[in-house]
Amino acid sequence: MTRIQDLAAHVGQAVELKGWNAQKRDSKGLVFMTFRDGTGFCQAVINLEVVGEASFEVAKRLPQESSLAIKGTVICDEKQVGGYEIQVTALTVIAEAEDYPITPKEHGVDFLMDNRHLWLRSRRQWAIMRVRNRIIFAIHEFFQGKGFVQMDAPIFTGNACEGTTNLFETDYYGEPAYLSQSGQLYGEAMAMAQGLIYTFGPTFRAEKSKTRRHLSEFWMIEPEMAFYDLKMDMDLIEQFVQSVVGAVLSSCAEELKVLERDTTFLEKVQLPFIRMKYEDAVSVILGEKEVNGRTSFVMLEEEKAKLVDEQKAVEQDIAEREAKIKSGELKKGEINFNQSKVDKLKGQLTDIAERQQAVEQWISSAKNFKRGDDFGGSDETVLTKMFGQPVMVYNWPQAVKAFYMKEDEEDKGYAKGVDLLAPEGYGEVVGGGERETDIERLKSKIIEHELPMSAFEWYLDLRKFGNVPHSGFGLGLERLVAWICGLQHIRETIPFPRSYGRLLP
Ligand code: 4AD
Ligand code: MG
Repeated sequence: MTRIQDLAAHVGQAVELKGWNAQKRDSKGLVFMTFRDGTGFCQAVINLEVVGEASFEVAKRLPQESSLAIKGTVICDEKQVGGYEIQVTALTVIAEAEDYPITPKEHGVDFLMDNRHLWLRSRRQWAIMRVRNRIIFAIHEFFQGKGFVQMDAPIFTGNACEGTTNLFETDYYGEPAYLSQSGQLYGEAMAMAQGLIYTFGPTFRAEKSKTRRHLSEFWMIEPEMAFYDLKMDMDLIEQFVQSVVGAVLSSCAEELKVLERDTTFLEKVQLPFIRMKYEDAVSVILGEKEVNGRTSFVMLEEEKAKLVDEQKAVEQDIAEREAKIKSGELKKGEINFNQSKVDKLKGQLTDIAERQQAVEQWISSAKNFKRGDDFGGSDETVLTKMFGQPVMVYNWPQAVKAFYMKEDEEDKGYAKGVDLLAPEGYGEVVGGGERETDIERLKSKIIEHELPMSAFEWYLDLRKFGNVPHSGFGLGLERLVAWICGLQHIRETIPFPRSYGRLLP
């Protein structure tokens, strides 16, 4: 048996493939099937004259997503799905499918989410999962290559790492326990044992709202490094992200093409990243500080103007096509062609209107931003749009950051935390920083944040026994997948997403 991923080595040869009928159409004595085997997609051509009447009839009636084995000759053909065609000489059905719910027509997203167990087979989802896999591999390559040790943090925990508002509580032999929001506190203990470590596991946050960036269950990569300060932490973040993006660009060309990903911004992910203090970032958002000779509001007005131009062009295209259809001079095929274009263009208009609304939202949040506040998604978008590149924002007001962040001695009131914001509106993908080492300050922070001291005794031990400066960060895998793949919504980045209101399939 040959796999589609290996077809390049079999051009001109006879092969046997096993897989599924993803889609097909037929015309006079020929069936054109999009055949998939998990490793890829190719076209299978079933010719009546080659396979005979009985097999041809089977192929012609074969329901979508039936499984089958095919034998045939491999032809290289750029124009075909996956770049190869199999000229089938024989086929055997393995299992005929019932009516498959996901047909080539458009489906609503709720329907697709309800059928996630089947939707995963579609070419687009296939491509996303392949990129996700490549990213995971690149993450391990990066850290293992630098001598980091992967260690796993527990999922049942007795302490809140990232505040108490979004904890999932469970029953742990009659005692309350929480599903981990972050492996960090354990990561700190493990770094004191191994020097350089990273955890890579599922983390949980009860987010009682549906957003395009939040999941209730997501995977986080959390390196923790003994003897690292904030600057070293930022150096590692940028090297890490650049290396993962680079790995995907160099080895997922086919997947990115399937996703129609414009890689312009990904190619701009080069070292060093832009770094700025929170206060400077705020000045940029508020329009008090220019970047490349323009303020945030000038940039936003330019965005608005671009959208108006786009809208006018689409409206004109629609008007011209509709006039042609009405003219009565077109053949039936041409009418259908133009009508379907008009439908698509109308979809584009809706999309433009949504983007216009988004710009209005960014403008109003930039106008209303208050120094000292945490950034919302709109603020992150405005800031990164000014640069078109990833931006690291550091030295945040202590009040908006977690209890474990170290205060900057030269910049009182500010925590040595850093967020990495991705361009193209993807926002925060990494959060991290230098950890507080002063045990008394930590204790008062724990009290201030109303956390139970008893659950943190073990953590405070790390400051009693060989206390050292240390830093780390957490990267949300799904946020990274969404950005690299250019997805509108985080729900497509993980095989079975868990979010508010969704537990099945
Ligand atoms: O910024 P966060 O909350 O930081 C931490 O948890 C630290 N303890 C990490 C560390 O220093 N070891 O979360 C880190 C990242 C975010 O930048 C984001 O990418 C992701 O986790 N993230 C989420 N991803 C999907 N859905 C959610 N609800 C997420 N919340 C955070
Ligand atoms: Mg954060």
